Amino acid sequence: MDISPAKTIEWVGGSGGAARIIDQTLLPNDYKHLDINDVAAMWEAIKVLRVRGAPAIGIAAAFGLYLAVRDSEAADYSAFAAQVNEAAEYLASSRPTAVNLFWALRRIQKLVADNSSLPVPGIKALMLSEAIAMIDEDNAVCRAIGKNGAALLAARANQATCNILTHCNAGGLATAQWGTALAPVYVAAEQGRSIHVFADETRPLLQGARLTAWELQQAGIPVTLITDNMAATVMAQGKVDAVIVGADRVAANGDVANKIGTFGVAILAKEFGIPFYVAAPLSSIDMNLASGELIPIEQRKAEEVTQGFGRLTAPTGIQVYNPAFDVTPHRYITALITEKGVIRPPFDQTLMQLFQTQA
Ligand code: MRU
Repeated sequence: MDISPAKTIEWVGGSGGAARIIDQTLLPNDYKHLDINDVAAMWEAIKVLRVRGAPAIGIAAAFGLYLAVRDSEAADYSAFAAQVNEAAEYLASSRPTAVNLFWALRRIQKLVADNSSLPVPGIKALMLSEAIAMIDEDNAVCRAIGKNGAALLAARANQATCNILTHCNAGGLATAQWGTALAPVYVAAEQGRSIHVFADETRPLLQGARLTAWELQQAGIPVTLITDNMAATVMAQGKVDAVIVGADRVAANGDVANKIGTFGVAILAKEFGIPFYVAAPLSSIDMNLASGELIPIEQRKAEEVTQGFGRLTAPTGIQVYNPAFDVTPHRYITALITEKGVIRPPFDQTLMQLFQTQA
């Protein structure tokens, strides 16, 4: 089966061009692209989730940083670097949890610093080519995650169809094109294997219903949408072989921040003896944070809960708690599927080894 997910983000035109994204706030009703030409528009796009998912917002931030300074008339390197750093701080304020955002900004800032001897136009050109290179890199990383994950599923599959449950959207729409949690699904389907996905709806912003269900349907992968509170039932009925989710940030001990509700799914998986996999690139692993308690969790507007898609579904003035992410303690995680292979517990040791071999 041939699969070719849509490109979530790309650069169109030359140095004066734009970052083109799929506006994910409009899906699944409208499939529309949006060209982003300035840093404020990129900040807004990240903030309101027009572009979302940890790897995709990293790439978006890299383009945002270029857009912030492409018209800079800074007289010298130090004035230019100050503008870059100020814009990086601004972009970093858009969303706090996904570490890829900070990873991508730091990478571009380092590139700028490493090339301080070049004339400013030369540095600008490097910033753009580095951001574009992140797309190809992300595609390669996601394909590797897909292959590693598909092999893992093949090893476990004991029946004709492999049934995966996922939460939120860690598919192509959350990366440049191929996804993390859904990459193994795409690779397994390409290999001709029978695979079916249960997509948790994912309250309050319905990334599962609006995005995962949409992209799997587009790809021709069998998908069944369930509300979040149905996960226990489908697991109890023996309908799930494995759970695969993505990650916004993995701490050094293997604790994982991901979309709110992920933790509950992990507890259920443990109860029913179902493997719980987290698919994530190395750029989502934050070795500077010892444990998940240190991961900043984004709090979002009450209206997402009380009137998410237009209609008021709670009394006016009600108090609301709306954390966008939760942290799944590492003891619930069977393995991390990365581009460098499948990482198993004890994660504090195996992650340390992984990063040592990368250094
Ligand atoms: O708030 P969102 O939609 O950006 O949350 C996305 C998730 O939680 C994803 O699972 C995570 O970023 C991994 S994307 C490969």
